[in-house]
Amino acid sequence: MPAGEHEFVVVANRLPVDITVAADGSLSWERSPGGLVTALAPIMQKNDGAWVGWSGQAGFEHEPFDGEGMRLWPVTLSEDEIEAYYEGFSNGTLWPLYHDVIVPPEFHRAWWNTYVSVNRRFAAAAAEAAAPGGTVWVHDYQLQLVPSVLRLLRPDVKIGFFNHIPFPPLEIFTQLPWRRQVVEGLLGADLVGFQRPGDAANFLRAVRRLTGLRVQGPQVTVPGRWSRPDRTVRAQAFPISIDAASFDELARTPEVLARAKEIRKELGSPDVLLLGVDRLDYTKGIRHRLKAFGELLEDGQLRVPEACMIQVASPSRERVEQYRQLRDEVEVTVGRINGDFGTLGRAAVHYMHHSYPMEEMAALYRAADVMLVTSLRDGMNLVAKEYVAARSDLGGALVLSEFTGAADELTQALQINPHDIDGTKATIMRAIGMDAREGRRRMRSLRRRVLEHDVQRWADDFLGYLAMSVPSPMSVPSP
Ligand code: G6P
Repeated sequence: MPAGEHEFVVVANRLPVDITVAADGSLSWERSPGGLVTALAPIMQKNDGAWVGWSGQAGFEHEPFDGEGMRLWPVTLSEDEIEAYYEGFSNGTLWPLYHDVIVPPEFHRAWWNTYVSVNRRFAAAAAEAAAPGGTVWVHDYQLQLVPSVLRLLRPDVKIGFFNHIPFPPLEIFTQLPWRRQVVEGLLGADLVGFQRPGDAANFLRAVRRLTGLRVQGPQVTVPGRWSRPDRTVRAQAFPISIDAASFDELARTPEVLARAKEIRKELGSPDVLLLGVDRLDYTKGIRHRLKAFGELLEDGQLRVPEACMIQVASPSRERVEQYRQLRDEVEVTVGRINGDFGTLGRAAVHYMHHSYPMEEMAALYRAADVMLVTSLRDGMNLVAKEYVAARSDLGGALVLSEFTGAADELTQALQINPHDIDGTKATIMRAIGMDAREGRRRMRSLRRRVLEHDVQRWADDFLGYLAMSVPSPMSVPSP
């Protein structure tokens, strides 16, 4: 396949922009929020980068174009493909399977077939974009077959893959009828990155069991085919982070600080403000959190209006049945808690089903006394890191589920098992009553970790390891 011109190519399910098409067909776009694009933008600019991804719209078809200092390379998906590849196999099969089967994954052959064909399309676009000997970085569970397809098309490029979500234990992973194909897909990469060492270990165990290949420490030896030499694939943890310095800076601005004060005032100046911020997803443990808060009100350990909670639940995957059900359940629970414990003009739970700009998020973080992250399973959880980055005043307390990737790093958070409602209630009360000195000490240590290990360092680490990986020679004469 003829090579393209981009030294560095990112392949992700979504493009890093939200595109609007005007009536005359002209395009405009806005950079979507998110640490990944912030971290990669400077690398893109330096290396003439391209980003291959889906626009988020059905049938959107467009030539690659320049925007945000890179070449944006749209991959077209039809309505049927969105249903089978994105809502189906990615979010109805892999997402629950990789998150401890919190809801039952569905296995449908038609979904798998579309996942295969869409992955091939992404790989073909990457192959067209990448310069000879260039670097391609593939992201996340939606695209696990891209590395092996791309390697066949372009054996000259270096391929990295990063999985943003957990990689499940073998006992769960092996439920997948196409488990071997997925592992082989990932083994097309030179470097496979995960959030936690445990995820990398789960993957290596799956490789050993399902392919019989030689695994030594973090390395897998893949025998060369068609007279190519053996290759080594490395699997390792690279915990992702946020653009911590920018977030820290934003949260110190007079506007954000004033808004934080105003938020508390609007809520009736409560003594205790609890906060939850999540995509509305069943992995986030929103119902467990509401249950714990509701019981604290019922027991009389907390009272409205002295205490209240804000729950921001941003809309997500709204056409997937499990997400619709979750929304109904959360909204019924919020309604019940407010019905039981709210007073005229003072709600117990302020529930917001929309997303907010970063400035408002920073103000919410600054306003909250206790941040509740109660995921039942979470690859990393960047909200926990954002809260910490926002608290340059060393105020606030972080209650953090031990089932998040962030728990490995944020050891000074008050950690909980969200399934243990009594334990969660006790920890929330401990966070509320925490002595200010202990709170500051914990927050200082959390901040050190987050500010030092930011998303830039994560990208540099990953790409540093990828650069060291052995290049695959284009053609090697047979012995
Ligand atoms: C998680 C996944 C991402 C995904 C994001 C939002 O963080 O790891 O790959 O983009 O959720 O979900 P969505 O389905 O809207 O892209």
